[in-house]
Amino acid sequence: MKLTPHQERILGGDQGQAAAKAMEILVALGQVFEAEALLPVRSVQVAGVSYGNLGDEGLAYLEELATDGRAVVPATLNPAGMDLDHPERMGLDEAFIAGQRRVIAAYRRLGIAAACTCTPYLAGNLPAPMETLAWSESSAVTYANSVLAARTNREGGPSALAAALTGFTPAYGLHLDSERRPVVRVELETALRGALLWGLAGRMVGERTKGEVALVVAPGPPPTLEELKAFSAALPTYGGAPIFHLLGVTPEASRWPSPERVARVSSSELSAALAEEGAGRGGARHAASQAAPDLVCLGCPHATLAELARVRELLAGRSVQIPLWLCTSRPVRALAEEIGLVDDLEAGGVTLLADTCFVVAPIGGRFRCIATNSAKGVYYARGHGGLRTRLLSMADCVEGAVTGRFY
Ligand code: F3S
Repeated sequence: MKLTPHQERILGGDQGQAAAKAMEILVALGQVFEAEALLPVRSVQVAGVSYGNLGDEGLAYLEELATDGRAVVPATLNPAGMDLDHPERMGLDEAFIAGQRRVIAAYRRLGIAAACTCTPYLAGNLPAPMETLAWSESSAVTYANSVLAARTNREGGPSALAAALTGFTPAYGLHLDSERRPVVRVELETALRGALLWGLAGRMVGERTKGEVALVVAPGPPPTLEELKAFSAALPTYGGAPIFHLLGVTPEASRWPSPERVARVSSSELSAALAEEGAGRGGARHAASQAAPDLVCLGCPHATLAELARVRELLAGRSVQIPLWLCTSRPVRALAEEIGLVDDLEAGGVTLLADTCFVVAPIGGRFRCIATNSAKGVYYARGHGGLRTRLLSMADCVEGAVTGRFY
């Protein structure tokens, strides 16, 4: 891989030890993937933020980098293990809270904004088409590649951080035209409405394509931002590539010829998956009688302002009796505060959380069964926490939280 004189100087330590280490990581990565050069990046989104995942070793690594490292491009963070302003709302222990605060302090010293979110594009980190990024979180990466037509691989935490400290990423994978070309056409049989169904469709397409790039053909009206967000989250979770092209909707779909190989997702398959996921899955160690949801989680990926308003509308002035965690980003929560949404949701007993989510927060052992409208969320809740899950619409989740009855 050829480095420019500027990149050679970074590698040689001209910009400090942290930048030199970061450049070593990028060069090694580039060599593994046979990249010919390093590309300048426009923005970075860094994963590896929860103290629960990093542990003391990861924290020590970050604190060492922060002694002389500094981000040279705009960078934001993936969700942390807690709401940074209101950790007390989540029932976490003091040692975890202290560790998480040190992680965030180290990232801040590194010049990385503590906008801890999987929707950086709603939080001031919005790329233009064709811009080169180094983002980490799979739903954000998929949304950036597919809906925004920016270009990013799914970075690991260290490689994204290295990109932030140097401003470069190796030119391989989804930075190359050849890797973005769809190789299978996936036809959805039914018109879809709502994040629940688009998320389930993302799961089906992911399971069908197993890492191959898909050109997706869907009947019906174009999806909303919230539906595209749900589809982008589920697709890579269930095995799909972190990119898709949705015919007639996403910017690159018309660039490519339609692949000859065709797969289909039928309405009966979607209905069967909806029935199975809605009835409940996982959590075998609990008897069925103990499996009523004891936590309702919305905002996976982090909720938009419109989703917060929709939850308020569904509450209709009532209060929840089952805890309802509604996760969003810090900038969206600030907007919601401006228009009284936060007060209204909290008056209804909703736990509005920024900076975190139920998957990255260390909640294992405290809940038995989670109800959510996120196809990605149920996958990780079952996998990480051994929780039972019920995948329901947002309306059914809110109604269940209010009445204690889930359909
Ligand atoms: Fe975001 Fe957490 Fe879901 S990171 S996509 S809210 S699992």
